[in-house]
Amino acid sequence: MRETEASGPGAGSEAAGKRPLGVGMVGYAFMGAAHSQGWRTVGRVFDLPVDPVLAAVCGRDAGAVRAAADRLGWAAAETDWRALIARDDVDLVDICTPGDSHAEIAVAALEAGKHVLCEKPLANTVEEAEAMAEAAERARARGQVAMVGFNYRRVPALALARRMVAQGRLGALRHVRLTYLQDWLVDAGFPLTWRLLKEHAGSGALGDLGAHIVDLAQYLAGEQVAGVSALTETFVRERPILEGPSSGLTASGGTRRGTVTVDDAALFTGRFPSGALASFEATRFAAGRKNALRLELNGSEGSLAFDLERLNELSFHDHTEPAASSGFRRILVTEPEHPYLDAWWPPGHGLGYEHTFVHQARDLLHAIATGARPEPSFADGLCVQRVLAAVEESAAKNSVYTLIPT
Ligand SMILES: NC(=O)c1ccc[n+]([C@@H]2O[C@H](COP(=O)([O-])OP(=O)(O)OC[C@H]3O[C@@H](n4cnc5c(N)ncnc54)[C@H](O)[C@@H]3O)[C@@H](O)[C@H]2O)c1
Repeated sequence: MRETEASGPGAGSEAAGKRPLGVGMVGYAFMGAAHSQGWRTVGRVFDLPVDPVLAAVCGRDAGAVRAAADRLGWAAAETDWRALIARDDVDLVDICTPGDSHAEIAVAALEAGKHVLCEKPLANTVEEAEAMAEAAERARARGQVAMVGFNYRRVPALALARRMVAQGRLGALRHVRLTYLQDWLVDAGFPLTWRLLKEHAGSGALGDLGAHIVDLAQYLAGEQVAGVSALTETFVRERPILEGPSSGLTASGGTRRGTVTVDDAALFTGRFPSGALASFEATRFAAGRKNALRLELNGSEGSLAFDLERLNELSFHDHTEPAASSGFRRILVTEPEHPYLDAWWPPGHGLGYEHTFVHQARDLLHAIATGARPEPSFADGLCVQRVLAAVEESAAKNSVYTLIPT
């Protein structure tokens, strides 16, 4: 780490006289731990315009949230998100709860004058996402920012891919092909956690994994999907009812059974206004695939390919090179010229999953300091939500091509 020699959270920033910015986080399990790592680390790696302070974390169980605060590095604990929002030492509310609470917390935080970071998908319905985007637009006029946690934009190799597409290295895009494959539901005995219930999660693999690849497709292509044809399926329709606490992805169930109310997998094709074709596959039933977010873009001048399970690498084929010596080559994305990498380790010393949350925090803090619209904004999150809704509508009508309102 080349930029900051801090001796404690925010120490470098305080020494430099930077304005503190209090963060309050709701939810402290999977994403809460990942975001905490981001907030703890960002000021020790990047030179920031403000000094993030881990002010308070919120959960519903007093003992558990206090233990989480101590474990994850938060100064205080709250048991009601309304109390968290009301705190004078909280300037930014970071929402790491399931989708059913995103809209209520985000709109309340924005109306209370706080900046907001909200995990993906932005909401469980288009209506909620519209209300959130409107609240964000009103708040923007007051100098507040609101961002969605599509953290894969912050994988250096994917930020580099976006840069190369924007530079025209691929020419005119023809194919935008993305799959996001996991396997944690293959076991029919895995219980009914919140991710399998529509009232909590909104949708299944579609909103969980599909939201990421729709956002990435639109980010990389630089345009919005215009329409989709979709298939969804729920392979295992009943599962054991959850017994005891769950972190969402690991849990155990008893003998009583309940109904799965979301999709297990979603496959869809789409069109971009430029004429490029897109294809998407999101599933939790790809046995052996743990977190395989893969993509390939093919253009008139070249192609790019990426696999999240090898996230320091980007494959590039330059189709303008002589055929005899051209072909896919591996770019090891660890050079200081690559996105985010000038603040990290020497070339070849790769990054991992958690670094995306450090980069997310960095980008959000810069947006707060400069007043720039953060990306992805709530408006971007709403665009993704509209694609997800069109996928569900198309699937319900046997794959009929469904236009996405702009
Ligand atoms: N960006 C990513 O890669 C990524 C990965 C996983 C999950 N997510 C998203 O993050 C969000 C949370 O998912 P997770 O995996 O962390 O879930 P999780 O089940 O691990 O954690 C959810 C947390 O929210 C808390 N919570 C729920 N309702 C609450 C309320 N009303 N008040 C206070 N706390 C409440 C729970 O107690 C728990 O601490 C979801 O929107 C999910 O889609 C994003």
